[in-house]
Amino acid sequence: MNISQNTKKALNDQIVLEANASNSYLAMASWCENAGYCGAANFFYSQSDEERTHMLKFVHYLNDIGGSATIPATKSPANSFKSLESIIRAALNNEQLVTKAIYSIVEIAQKEKDHSTHTFLDWFVNEQVEEEKKFETILQKFELIGRDKIAIHEIDKILGSMASKN
Ligand code: FEO
Repeated sequence: MNISQNTKKALNDQIVLEANASNSYLAMASWCENAGYCGAANFFYSQSDEERTHMLKFVHYLNDIGGSATIPATKSPANSFKSLESIIRAALNNEQLVTKAIYSIVEIAQKEKDHSTHTFLDWFVNEQVEEEKKFETILQKFELIGRDKIAIHEIDKILGSMASKN
């Protein structure tokens, strides 16, 4: 298959974003584990695995269409955080950046009439709706339940229950 240099670059750039997201969530998981937030730790460990799966989807797709994926170095993620809430907010910001990046690849695919890449990206467009919604819903919990120790413990349990669904 013929793939444009533009598309190839955009897909390789997305591999970087997904790999960095996986690393960031791994660092968040580790921070949560050390802070005693077991539910949140499980949630972010599974979230990290999920991002690696996303990265692999891009790697396989690029290779399938003859674009040859480049496996990147990942940047060092933030390893210390102010609170559980600040982690969730950082994760939501990250997902919003990923959504923008996916949309810009969709626009490249549309412009180039690259139907294969456009169709491949459909899954990610839907996934990003779910990802953003997920973190927005968790953030809402801080408003609904509160931020004292008992509330945070409750939110940690909720995050733990979400880990298995990832
Ligand atoms: Fe793969 Fe959550 O973006």
